[in-house]
Order: sequence, then C-alpha cells, then structure tokens
Amino acid sequence: VAVLCESEPNSVNLYERRRGDGQFVLYRERNIPVAASDFERLRARGVTHLFIAAEEQSEHQSFLRRNLDALLNNDNVPVSQRFQVLNQVTYAALRDSFATDDTDQAVATATTMGSTSVDFLAQNDVVARDLFSVLRHDYHTFTHSANVSGYCVVLAKRLGIANDGDLKAIATGALLHDIGKLQIPNAILSKVGPLTEIEFDVVKRHPITGFNKCCDREDLSWEQLMIVYQHHEKCNGGGYPVGIMQAEIHEWARICAVVDVFDALTSLRPYKPARRIADALDYLLTQSGKALDAEMVSCWNDAMRP
Ligand SMILES: [Fe+2]
Ligand SMILES: [Fe+2]
Repeated sequence: VAVLCESEPNSVNLYERRRGDGQFVLYRERNIPVAASDFERLRARGVTHLFIAAEEQSEHQSFLRRNLDALLNNDNVPVSQRFQVLNQVTYAALRDSFATDDTDQAVATATTMGSTSVDFLAQNDVVARDLFSVLRHDYHTFTHSANVSGYCVVLAKRLGIANDGDLKAIATGALLHDIGKLQIPNAILSKVGPLTEIEFDVVKRHPITGFNKCCDREDLSWEQLMIVYQHHEKCNGGGYPVGIMQAEIHEWARICAVVDVFDALTSLRPYKPARRIADALDYLLTQSGKALDAEMVSCWNDAMRP
C-alpha cells in the first residue's frame, strides 16, 4: 500500500491495479508529486489503493521514516491508516536496529517509537478494532512486538493508566518484550509443527535472555524490565520463567501477557491459520482468572468486541 504525503513527493513509482485483468500499470513516476486533486480523481474512479514494487519496499520505508511527522499529522488520511504507517515504520525500525545486535540502538529505537506511538494515540481517537484491521498479522518478532506495543497502550489506557510517562514506558517496554527471542535459532522460531521438549526449553529462556540484555541499563525502569522478564508468567502460577502468581506479576507484565496471547492467536503461524477476533477473544475468556488477569481480559474483550 502506498501512503503519500504532501511534504515530499513519493520517491518510488506508484502503480494502479487495472480493473478486469488485474495488471499493475504505472500511475505516477517517482519524484512527481501527487496532488490533493489527484486523490479526488482517484477516489471518483473508485481507486482506493496504489501499489509499489517489492524491490522498492526499503526505499519506501525510508521515505515513510523521513516523513513520519507529516504523515501522522495529515488529517486527510484516516486515523487508522496513519496508525498503519506508524506501525510499519516501527516494525522496520525495530528490524534494522535489532539486526545489529546492539542493545543501545534497540532501546533507543524502542524509546523513540514508543513515545511517538503514545503521542499519536493521545491525539487521535483510535478504535481498537480499527487498529487490528490495519496491522500485519504474521507473527515475525518485529511485527509482533510492534502490534503488542500498540495493543498494550490501548489496554493500559482503558484500565485507567493515564500518565503520559507511564504509557510511554509501557509502549517502549512492550516493543522490547521479546528482545530475548533474537537469541533463539530461526529453525526453532519458525518451525512448522510442534516443538520438542528441548526446543521448547530454548524458547522458554527468552524472558531471561532479554532481561539479562537489558537489566544493567539506566534508560530502562524496573517496571519495563518486568515486562521483559514476566510476560510469560501466568496468574495461576503455571507460567515461566519462575511460576509466580497474580499480584506477584507486575501489572504491566500482566497487560502485556493478555495482548501477547491475543496477537499470537490472531497471527498466521507456520503451523496454524490466524484465528478471527471473536475466536481469539473467546479463548482469552477461557483463560480469564486462570492464566490471564480477569479484569484485563474483560477490558480487552470490551475494547475489541464490536
Ligand atoms: Fe515472549
Ligand atoms: Fe511476545
């Protein structure tokens, strides 16, 4: 999907999908601006999407990154689509900074993107279900982390957490919650079919690995570290790495746990299709007061149910 802004002409070719034969035809060459009147003409013809070539994806990503502020403040674009841009930029920024295996850079990126996301969600009324519809659901660590962070902010606000600093800390902590997964071999992370006991033990180490990566840092708070360390703990004591219960688990980690499971269920995995929202919520309700915090499940259910 090509998202456009007025401050800088698009730096990639834009294509339109021809009706009838479905062929992609050039709509506008790179660096030639698309004016507001062009959008009106497109809309009048019933065109809602323009496309870019896969090989120009990264050029488009850096265009989005350069123009993020202008895009997020462009009132001509629906709020949910602007959030989609933010989510894409967050995803790409995480992927690039995590790939360096430099925790400084990962934390800096997460802090910037977490803060931008909270500012955006504070200024715009976003319906949780609309967020869902514009997110990618492929469960790659970066997509998943970006989704979980957005969901965490929505759920935290509905639970009454209103302090801007707390919300930004939660958003940032959630972006980092699975940072320990970078140490898990890809063969295990994207394995088709059930994991062996040994493989599952490797997966279960990621909260500890993540905690160890982050625990000496002065730019992360104890609460944020708890998101990383405790997001797989369960209220009934059946989680990992420790097996602590309900109130022993930090509130922010319990928030993360609810939306972490939700994103896992609604994402396409190598061994199972993505569940629909209603199915995923039904499952969360079965875990209410058991694995997951009852009040938080109920609150998330209210936010996502139509
Ligand atoms: Fe995790
Ligand atoms: Fe996760």
